[in-house]
Amino acid sequence: MKIETLRWAHDKLEMIDQRILPAAFEYIAYDSAATVAEGIRSMVVRGAPAIGVAAAYGVALEALRLQDAPVVEFHSGMEEGFAVLERSRPTAVNLFWALQRMRAVWIVVRGKKNTEVAQRLLEEAHEILAEDVRINRAMGAFGAELLPDGARVLTHCNAGALATAGWGTALGVFRSAVEAGKKISVIADETRPFLQGARLTAWEMVQEQIPVTLITDNMAGFMMATGEIDAVVVGTDRVAGNGDVANKIGTYMVAVLAQRHNIPFYVACPLSTIDMSIASGAEIPIEERSPDEVKGFRDYHWAAEGVQIRNPAFDVTPAELVTALITEKGVVRQPGRNTIARLFNS
Ligand code: MRU
Repeated sequence: MKIETLRWAHDKLEMIDQRILPAAFEYIAYDSAATVAEGIRSMVVRGAPAIGVAAAYGVALEALRLQDAPVVEFHSGMEEGFAVLERSRPTAVNLFWALQRMRAVWIVVRGKKNTEVAQRLLEEAHEILAEDVRINRAMGAFGAELLPDGARVLTHCNAGALATAGWGTALGVFRSAVEAGKKISVIADETRPFLQGARLTAWEMVQEQIPVTLITDNMAGFMMATGEIDAVVVGTDRVAGNGDVANKIGTYMVAVLAQRHNIPFYVACPLSTIDMSIASGAEIPIEERSPDEVKGFRDYHWAAEGVQIRNPAFDVTPAELVTALITEKGVVRQPGRNTIARLFNS
């Protein structure tokens, strides 16, 4: 089954509602920057590359929505559109990368007729989507070579087709390995508190018929100690210039355990996720989400009323714990400032 996380249909952006998967499979249609921003904020769409693609379409939708407006209104409306999308989520740098790319097009074409501007922005959004799938395929091919036949691989959160425009980053590596004839089995940790592992990764792997075993987050150490995990592959929301990796909360814990047990820890990472403007992971803004996500699930609350709650949604894994970054340009072992800079220049 081909999973189309985002698709252009009937002059609107349609996105799978990831909040209700796997119980229900439904698309929601979007027609403006503000509604797309709300879809990103509320996690209808999530995952760094998918957020970037959604934001690109948000810009194009805003231009289409305003194309009959007077030029002054069109231009101020577009600026508001960029701003509302920029505020939707803070950690995944792909959001800002995609908006910068859309802005570069906007700056070149904004003098033309509104309708032409809107069409050009829409073309760019289509291109960003198509490119994302190509990049994931390339990363998958490089990553597949790192996994031995028969590997049992742990992943955290969902870095799959649902987190991208298709194929996936970490799950793309698994798909490519299977396509290359390797037998791979996946251990998905459930990923408290939003359960992207239990709900999304498990669902994707079941659809793909790749063997998958679900564990709770606190079972990873036991499974490594008993020799049931051969490698870890995760995605990322932002990699700093020195190779520090921000990813879903709990990733750092897995990386420390992997080092303790001599298990390779790989990060699948498109170049659009590397932020060379920041020196280290300490500068990555970490989103703090609603306490309700920790208190319980959906409407059911199991935590004691009145308890204080923290809910940082991401953590930072220091570069020294990362065995290699898997990118569309190749594998970077022992990532650091020099190796990453070389990658951009290659
Ligand atoms: O809060 P989310 O679900 O957007 O977090 C997603 C992750 O942490 C993913 O691992 C990351 O974006 C990589 S997606 C290919």
